[in-house]
Amino acid sequence: MLTCEVVGQGPAILFVHGFPLDRWMWHPQVAALDGYRRIAPDLPGLGESPAGGPGTMAFYASELGRCLDHLGVGSVVLCGLSMGGYVAFECLRQWPERVAGLALMDTRADPDTEEGRQGRDRLIAEVRARGAAAAADAMMPRLVGATTSASRPAWLSELRQRIERTPTAGLVAALEAMKGRPDSRPLLGTISVPTLVLVGAEDVITPPSLAEAMARGIPGASLVVVPGSGHLPTLEQPEAVTEALRSLLRRVV
Ligand code: MLT
Repeated sequence: MLTCEVVGQGPAILFVHGFPLDRWMWHPQVAALDGYRRIAPDLPGLGESPAGGPGTMAFYASELGRCLDHLGVGSVVLCGLSMGGYVAFECLRQWPERVAGLALMDTRADPDTEEGRQGRDRLIAEVRARGAAAAADAMMPRLVGATTSASRPAWLSELRQRIERTPTAGLVAALEAMKGRPDSRPLLGTISVPTLVLVGAEDVITPPSLAEAMARGIPGASLVVVPGSGHLPTLEQPEAVTEALRSLLRRVV
């Protein structure tokens, strides 16, 4: 069973984190969104969740479904950032009836290119050889935006230390899951719940042009571009993300 932080009472929000992090990347929103039951799990093998099971989006989504069953939660507003967005698409495939609203942040609907898959294989080999430091080396230069890099050097060291604590097996499984993920573009036009697409203006991993295209493909979706943020707006500009989520939540409940 996944390790999961559960805070507060009210309509449920499920926060799904990105790579190579854990539920910590949602801590400002978990702390701020009073009046809701905030559910923030660690995906298998990441953070404090045990490893085990295949490295697939299907496994991650079914584990999240089991976690909701265990908590007795019916429907959720589903929030996924980057890899968490890839997982959210899989949740929409496996248990669409449970998704009352959707937030897709700094993510993309298309699968890896052949070149992207080769890059995953190289990083898998490096992580196996050197552990989480290899993931930190690969990701740190691109994870946050220029504004954060220039203004919060001490916080960047904290971010790096957190990545370096991530277990190797969980990182390898996550890279396998991202490499093998299906094309979610055909899903976009079928999404019928209130949806927020959000992206950091300085995101170089999943840039704003991708978010704009995704928002155009989802009926009625709203688009928020967060100034002064790269790929991790939940941590780089937490208040702006919380505010955008509040607007989404008002549309849902
Ligand atoms: C993430 O932030 O979850 C990853 O950068 C996504 C990816 O590598 O495709």
